[in-house]
Amino acid sequence: MSSFIGIVHRVAAYMGENYVLTGGVFDIDFDKGNQFAVQLDLDAARSYPSLEVFIEKELTLAEDERIQVVSILTPNFLHFEMARKLVSAGFNVICEKPITVSADEARSLEKLVQEKGVVFGLSHTYTGYPMIRQMKSMIAQNKIGRIQKVDAQYYQGWINPSIHQEEERKKVWRLNPKMSGMSCCMGDIGVHAFNLIEYTTGLEIDKVLADLHTLYPENELDVDGTTLLRMNNGSRGVITASQIATGEENNLSIAVYGDQGGLKWEQEHPMYLKHLIEGAPSQIYKPGNPYNSEFALESTKIAPGHPEGLFDAMGNIYNGVAAAIQGRPHSSGAFPTVHDGVRGMSFIEAVLSSSSQGQVWVKVS
Ligand SMILES: NC(=O)c1ccc[n+]([C@@H]2O[C@H](COP(=O)([O-])OP(=O)(O)OC[C@H]3O[C@@H](n4cnc5c(N)ncnc54)[C@H](O)[C@@H]3O)[C@@H](O)[C@H]2O)c1
Repeated sequence: MSSFIGIVHRVAAYMGENYVLTGGVFDIDFDKGNQFAVQLDLDAARSYPSLEVFIEKELTLAEDERIQVVSILTPNFLHFEMARKLVSAGFNVICEKPITVSADEARSLEKLVQEKGVVFGLSHTYTGYPMIRQMKSMIAQNKIGRIQKVDAQYYQGWINPSIHQEEERKKVWRLNPKMSGMSCCMGDIGVHAFNLIEYTTGLEIDKVLADLHTLYPENELDVDGTTLLRMNNGSRGVITASQIATGEENNLSIAVYGDQGGLKWEQEHPMYLKHLIEGAPSQIYKPGNPYNSEFALESTKIAPGHPEGLFDAMGNIYNGVAAAIQGRPHSSGAFPTVHDGVRGMSFIEAVLSSSSQGQVWVKVS
């Protein structure tokens, strides 16, 4: 598949030796999808022209031959309908974020997943990094004390060359509300920052006050934004996200401060988790070392000092989903779920509502 994220899922699926790519709808253009299937030496009969045909044909196969889990890696507006159809037909799903284009859709999907009893993983990739998992474990073990401040930043610059001319803007599906949904920047990357805060701290973001920017009045969707946070433990925080931070690549970082210390992690340097300690020198945690939590250790494949990255993080999410499908024990943070999707969509809606009302506090429902 020609998509940006397809290769990450493909490699990740194979990493834990839990999956074999068997078939799918590999492109919106059936010929291209077929070429891809040939290139990968897949059975051409299982390269399907549409999801409807995929479901119909796969359901005619015996259960032990049928595809068990389907990854949805299309532009955002297709996620809900595709997920709804797959879950209704009893397939397990791994879905790209944002899970849907509205919180109502996400909630109805959550209900359906519960009714059908299928496994639903949401690929908030960054939750798969060992040092993010170490951060989650250390916060749960009270290593930094009571949380009093959270700060997540996600800066990219890739939209800068496209944003200044209308014709160039039209080529970017993420700037088209019909394909992207109600938000570009907060929906695409701000939601990762949101998810990481709730994932690592175990807290919920209760209220937001947001200032979003479209840069040009005729550009409909946000490309930059700052969101102040009130957490459900009373602490405060901030998410800053931008796709016009010129020159930035994938500068995602998170810092959580408690009354005993702080933890800081940067996606572009994912092997290092900085532990700031009240009244003592800072420490650096690195993957694969025995001082890490069991959860972080089981998320690392290789000896200390060998860098693991985005593919490995996604691989950890795939491994978590596989464990759930196979009924093996797994940590509650092994993969983000449909509920994380509901939270993410509620956040995006609250942020848009806050900004459009002139920067007022809005509850994340
Ligand atoms: N988890 C992450 O960190 C991360 C990173 C990048 C993208 N994403 C998400 O992945 C999704 C895809 O983003 P992308 O950047 O890879 O997009 P992309 O434009 O590179 O690829 C989209 C793909 O979807 C295919 N497609 C479109 N309509 C289809 C249909 N009806 N049936 C089958 N295939 C169809 C296209 O042929 C194309 O291959 C988005 O929802 C995005 O938010 C997530």
